[in-house]
Amino acid sequence: MCGIFAYTGHKPNAANIILDGLKTLEYRGYDSWGIAVETSKGIAVEKHIGKIGDAQIRLPNAVRGIGHTRWATHGGVTVENSHPHLDCTREIALLHNGIVENFAELKKDVNDHTFRSQTDTEVVVHLIENLCSMYPFTEAVMIAFKKLKGLNAIVVMHNKTGETVALKNGSPLVIGIGEKEYFIASDVTGILPYTHKVIFLKDNEMAVVADTLHMVDVHTGKNLTPQIEEIHWNMENADKGKFTHFMLKEIFEQPSILQNLATTNDRIAILARYVRKAKGTFFIGAGTAYNASLAGAYLFSKIAKQHVNTAPASEFNYLEDFLHEKSLVIALSQSGETIDIIEPMNRAKEKKATVIGILNTIGSTLYRMSDEVFLLGAGPEKAVASTKAYTAKLATLLLLVYTLCNKREEGQKIVTDAATEIQRFFSDTYLLQMQRLAKKLKNTQHLYTIGRGYAYPTALEAALKIKEVSYIHAEGFAGGELKHGPIALIEKGTPCIVFAPQDTTYSAIISNATEVKARGGYIIGVASQHAPIFDEWVEIKDIGIGSIISGIVPMQLLAYYLAVMKKLDPDKPRNLAKSVTVK
Ligand code: F6R
Repeated sequence: MCGIFAYTGHKPNAANIILDGLKTLEYRGYDSWGIAVETSKGIAVEKHIGKIGDAQIRLPNAVRGIGHTRWATHGGVTVENSHPHLDCTREIALLHNGIVENFAELKKDVNDHTFRSQTDTEVVVHLIENLCSMYPFTEAVMIAFKKLKGLNAIVVMHNKTGETVALKNGSPLVIGIGEKEYFIASDVTGILPYTHKVIFLKDNEMAVVADTLHMVDVHTGKNLTPQIEEIHWNMENADKGKFTHFMLKEIFEQPSILQNLATTNDRIAILARYVRKAKGTFFIGAGTAYNASLAGAYLFSKIAKQHVNTAPASEFNYLEDFLHEKSLVIALSQSGETIDIIEPMNRAKEKKATVIGILNTIGSTLYRMSDEVFLLGAGPEKAVASTKAYTAKLATLLLLVYTLCNKREEGQKIVTDAATEIQRFFSDTYLLQMQRLAKKLKNTQHLYTIGRGYAYPTALEAALKIKEVSYIHAEGFAGGELKHGPIALIEKGTPCIVFAPQDTTYSAIISNATEVKARGGYIIGVASQHAPIFDEWVEIKDIGIGSIISGIVPMQLLAYYLAVMKKLDPDKPRNLAKSVTVK
């Protein structure tokens, strides 16, 4: 999951160009970062631990360099383990995204080299160094790359030959082509200020960037014709505006995103046609996106009276043996880069199933591999914790099931009502209530959330949001599961958030809350009506099935305020990254 940005051109401030590029990629990892530039005295490197923030770089002027922002896999978060990594001669610098699964085996061939890090990556640069004594640089890189097991992207620069080489198998890389200058990056965002001409590198293609660019097929060694695409995206200005954090800004953006989805999207009908045609529809997603796909399964059952399957994308790999050419696999993803999704989608394609992406990022790997895509139109989601992409996914699924039942207008009305209800949560009084609740809960160690029916995915998502930004141990359960084990965890004062919509689940979930209360639990009811069992009441309007969308928003706010009150950065929680490109 790391971010890669490289520059080759005529501008003398390569290091600063790379630093700006890395800032746009920090969502991919923010443990540490580093930049290397070409100089006449060998490669100059600067590395740092922590987020880039407003860092200044002290590297010399250079027209070429490579940079990396890291999310640690092998080796702790140290300066030595940060990329770029250098060979023993300091003439070759390498960046890597992925995991070299066979690094221990490969290391045996370069045991006589001096290793400075504990990473799996460093072995590759020493391997290339060895191969360079027998082959030209680009060929050496290609041979080394072919030895790597796992899903990897590497960018390698040679100080003497003037070449920078990019290869990938799995993780994304994009080449930007400017006026006598080239960029290599993990995504296009940082490239777009300089050029709109890009090449999305395919697996096992090598791009060699020097004064000119050429591309090679890694397996055949033959030259390839570069497939240049013109990207004219309206990259919305993704700054925080009047908000102190992206997370809060993105929570507040939800009503308008939902309004747009309800009123402008005709592509839902295309999705519905695919579902009608399929013999077996499967929804997959990771984390928040999985919670959305689970909510989708309830919507299909309740509204369309149709069975669909859903699984966490990382498990779908082991569940998909039955896929066939009439199967339909729909992946939900904000980034479109999550490796846990890309892998099963690739397998589904091999089995000739139809694959559809419901996603937020144009040009992403999922976008390019899907037979059909549906764009959420939520705009860039910068906070690591997903908020607006979640409700946009739910609205899309809701519109899809209503369209399947030929009740599209009804679906649109529900989404619009959900948007209005969400807007209500942004009144000063409501926000103050959530702040007061956060103050009460901020020192708690453990917290549980329960729901039944379509409030169950909401309970899961609420717990995920709270744990990832506030580091409170929060667990979501189906209300009925409580008695089958989790209730053993309830002690005097343990907070339990109970989602109690006025539907067929109401009396059963109130019974579950009563069982928790009987063991000393502190009950926070999220409901349209106060119930005597509630110690705290988070009032939401009963908007029927639309609550599947709006019901999570008070919890997004609670998670946000918990993080802020604990003096944590809600936008960049520890150990996480926005785009998860390793298994
Ligand atoms: C949680 C969160 C993650 C993502 C997951 C999938 O707030 O953001 O659980 O939902 O990593 O990411 P995408 O949607 O980009 O595939």
